[in-house]
Amino acid sequence: MKIIHISAECYPVAKVGGLADVVGALPKYQNSEGATGQVIMPFYKNNFTKEYTFDTVHEGSLKLGADSLNFKILTPENGDLGFDLYLVDIPELLFTNYVYSENDTDRFLAFQIAALDWILQNKHVPDIVHCHDHHTGLIPFMMSHAKKYIKLKNIPSVFTIHNAQYQGWFSHDKINLLPSFPASHVGLLDWDNCINPLATAIKCAWRVTTVSPSYMEELKVKANGLEGLINSESQKCIGILNGIDIKVWNPESDDLIVKKYGVTDCDAGKKASKDWLCKKFGLNPKKPLFVFIGRLVEEKGADLFYELFDLALKNLDISILLLGSGNKTVEEQLTILTRKYPKSYNAYIGYDEALSHKMYAGGDYLLMPSRVEPCGLNQMYSLRYGTIPIVNKIGGLKDTVIDISKGGFGFLHTENTIKGIFNSIKRATQFYNDSSEFKDTRKTIMQIDHSWDESAQQYVSLYKSLIPNL
Ligand code: ADP
Ligand code: GLC
Repeated sequence: MKIIHISAECYPVAKVGGLADVVGALPKYQNSEGATGQVIMPFYKNNFTKEYTFDTVHEGSLKLGADSLNFKILTPENGDLGFDLYLVDIPELLFTNYVYSENDTDRFLAFQIAALDWILQNKHVPDIVHCHDHHTGLIPFMMSHAKKYIKLKNIPSVFTIHNAQYQGWFSHDKINLLPSFPASHVGLLDWDNCINPLATAIKCAWRVTTVSPSYMEELKVKANGLEGLINSESQKCIGILNGIDIKVWNPESDDLIVKKYGVTDCDAGKKASKDWLCKKFGLNPKKPLFVFIGRLVEEKGADLFYELFDLALKNLDISILLLGSGNKTVEEQLTILTRKYPKSYNAYIGYDEALSHKMYAGGDYLLMPSRVEPCGLNQMYSLRYGTIPIVNKIGGLKDTVIDISKGGFGFLHTENTIKGIFNSIKRATQFYNDSSEFKDTRKTIMQIDHSWDESAQQYVSLYKSLIPNL
């Protein structure tokens, strides 16, 4: 079974968030299950493309409205990612040092057209086309309805919603950028008088998945305007919990952390990373260390941080270390706090993959007060590194963390307000002081299996249901 994943991100090629981690891991696991998982994504101007050399496997010219754009499909000559990788090179549009910008309609539309043009001329067409998020949301529509892609009509498409907040809306004025299709199908593109690629994907894909079961249920009542659609298409929708790549995220073999460790020597291993972090960021290693890693956006609760951290640092004997970037006001507020609490708080504003690994290893607690969390990978990484998660009870967080008071291993709150989160931090601080239970808990969480094995299997079953004769 050949599955082609189409995505804007894929680790280690280009990563903005968890989408990259998923698309960089799932095909590897599919390959180990006997299927063939491949990835096609844009060719960006970044460190990965600078370091690798590429073979051209296809050259063509695509139509974007009245424009003709030359494109190439490239594949790395060297290195083994664990899956075949194909990069769409459209120099005028995609070769940028960023993945996303404010004005991405043309970029990702051209990407989707190039990907389909290439699939169309392939001798071995895929058995499944698996699209991820709105940047690839028009592909199921084009495969089913664009005259040019009529030959792809019978290939099942699966669409995964990683985050329904972002839908890729654009105006009907740009409709001519799409390859021609019968005018009677225009309704499939529309949602609230806009072209909405996420809505189109939900309407047209053969199956729709979300990255956790709870998120699928939540979308039925809160989906940034798409609730009605999710409900009406619910018979083809299913939530499959993401896994994590346990080869990349493994404290026993992680070259990015200060000292490798397993369950038996986790106390020493975590202490080494915590000492390193505290030294680097001027914090006291004796206090419990709470870390946050992520995008500084409302979805992650970042607008609450200034007041929350101020309250927590004033009232509790703890340290907080943050790694993230995003909203400029939040970034400024978080920098101001470093001056107010120089010995118990610090922040690295930016993106740093290596530092994130050290923080998963060296933190005592991971803070994740997300308002929206379709799955969340951070809490699963932190579990694997023995760092206890403190989370809001929603989406994938609800599906992966059980509260300590219910015989579990983390701290959950249902009231995601400053007061609610502060109470969780307070409970966690008290728990830290009960050293033996705290240490036992981190050994327990390191052994929870969140590898892709089971979820990859669920995807395979889903694909098989669409191609019974294979
Ligand atoms: P989302 O995709 O919504 O941002 P996830 O929890 O699914 O959230 O995944 C976030 C991924 O991005 C994790 O791998 C996390 O470690 C990483 N990450 C987020 N922000 C940063 C940062 N500033 N530096 C390094 N890694 C980061
Ligand atoms: C999105 C979601 C996040 C999820 C990730 C990978 O970015 O916000 O919750 O873990 O996709 O599926």
